[in-house]
Amino acid sequence: MIEPYYETKLGKYFLGNNKDILSGFPDGEFDAVITDPPFFEKDKYNMGTYDAYVNVLPELFRVMKDDSWLIVYFPSTRLPEILEDTTKYFKYVDRFILEFRSTMVKGAFGDKKTLEVLVFKKGRPKVRERFYNDVIPGLEDPTIVTLHPRSSMWKPTLATAILITKIVGFDKTILDPFAGLGSIPIVAEKLGLKWVAIDKNPEYAEISRLIIKESVEPRTALKEKSRD
Ligand SMILES: C[S@@+](CC[C@H](N)C(=O)[O-])C[C@H]1O[C@@H](n2cnc3c(N)ncnc32)[C@H](O)[C@@H]1O
Repeated sequence: MIEPYYETKLGKYFLGNNKDILSGFPDGEFDAVITDPPFFEKDKYNMGTYDAYVNVLPELFRVMKDDSWLIVYFPSTRLPEILEDTTKYFKYVDRFILEFRSTMVKGAFGDKKTLEVLVFKKGRPKVRERFYNDVIPGLEDPTIVTLHPRSSMWKPTLATAILITKIVGFDKTILDPFAGLGSIPIVAEKLGLKWVAIDKNPEYAEISRLIIKESVEPRTALKEKSRD
């Protein structure tokens, strides 16, 4: 199996095409996939295209446990496509609205201030804790260092922490196949979950490594960066 680009006590970040990397994983490895795939039709911002999400779906289904969650950050402008494509494999469960002021998405009536968080399932995973906030605040966990130069890529860490805590639970392993700067894996690391992250962009992988290092072992990674 391919070596990770970096690893922590709990996680591994792989550099490469997610479908190729996942082909080295056994069936039924993950309790949840939490991810933020590209949604553009053309690769304008070096984030890849929506096709990459559609192409990796069968592989995600394979590596997920029989009873598991798929949680996807996605803009409302393209809901019909993602619902149609994802429900070929997974069952739709519900959605949350995330307040997200730095989004790049242009809505039909102006700039969007929200994102959808769509929840799908494979099999019959248990809801861990019922909760009543279907609007999730776009806030950051203040203990996480955010070096994010492209703030619309970085997803609010407190929102991901709420989703993990209430839906997925703790003694779990999660996968983010479009990990970018690592806003989802860092939350798993802080909450003590095992995680696997994949991204094809080496620049984002390196920023993710520094953010995790800086958040887990404070004030070491930034010094390392300033020595470069
Ligand atoms: C919307 S961004 C994810 C942002 C991420 N949540 C963060 O915290 O930075 C989508 C990511 O998918 C990655 N990507 C696109 N196609 C991919 C593929 N086939 N395999 C691996 N990564 C891919 C891009 O490099 C980009 O970092």
